[in-house]
Amino acid sequence: MRPENKKKIKVLPNGPYAVSGDIPLNQLRYVSDQKGASTEYKLIQQYKTSETYHLCRCGRTNNHPFCDGSHLAGIPFDGTETASRATYKEMAEVLEGKQIDLLDAEDLCAVARFCDTYGTTWELVENSTDPAAIDIIKKQCADCPSGRLTPVTKAGEIIDPELPQEISLLEDMPAEAHGPIWVKGGIPIEDAEGNRYPVRNRVTLCRCGKSKNKPFCDANHMQNQGELE
Ligand code: FES
Repeated sequence: MRPENKKKIKVLPNGPYAVSGDIPLNQLRYVSDQKGASTEYKLIQQYKTSETYHLCRCGRTNNHPFCDGSHLAGIPFDGTETASRATYKEMAEVLEGKQIDLLDAEDLCAVARFCDTYGTTWELVENSTDPAAIDIIKKQCADCPSGRLTPVTKAGEIIDPELPQEISLLEDMPAEAHGPIWVKGGIPIEDAEGNRYPVRNRVTLCRCGKSKNKPFCDANHMQNQGELE
């Protein structure tokens, strides 16, 4: 168990994410293969931050990725939180595989496409009897930023990667869109009323303002393809 610390992300009502506890912040991009499947992350930059900072949640800031108050100007931002408070286990369906099983919480999908290498994770789980497939499945799931996919051994062991407590802004260059905010290492997230969401090892928060599953990303940022041109 991680010791309690002051690291926290607070969703402000119709406003930004208030980050506290000196959480490191960087920007990563997906590296993809010829078919557009994501294979790894590449560091673009490390931000210099202070003990607290505010990350844009509406997608309109001119001081990317930090809030510049744009949510207060013009059309007001509706940041109403609609996400379930269910735990990952309550949300996930179980897919029984040949060598390993898979937990799949589809509502969390951020379309990062790490599950599309070597066919797809689901195909490998359901059909492959090659022992090498287990390592591929583990990597695909470990790279999934939203934590939608989690492998489970036939002995019932849940395999979750060890992640540092940090925040990464994900850039989807193939789709030419800003991706979500990747929160790693079990950092607590508190809603606008002060209630804590079930803590997970990795989650993806919306930063485009379009998610229907706020504060989490539901891949609606893919509507913005071309915004990085
Ligand atoms: S960043 Fe993915 S839906 Fe907003």
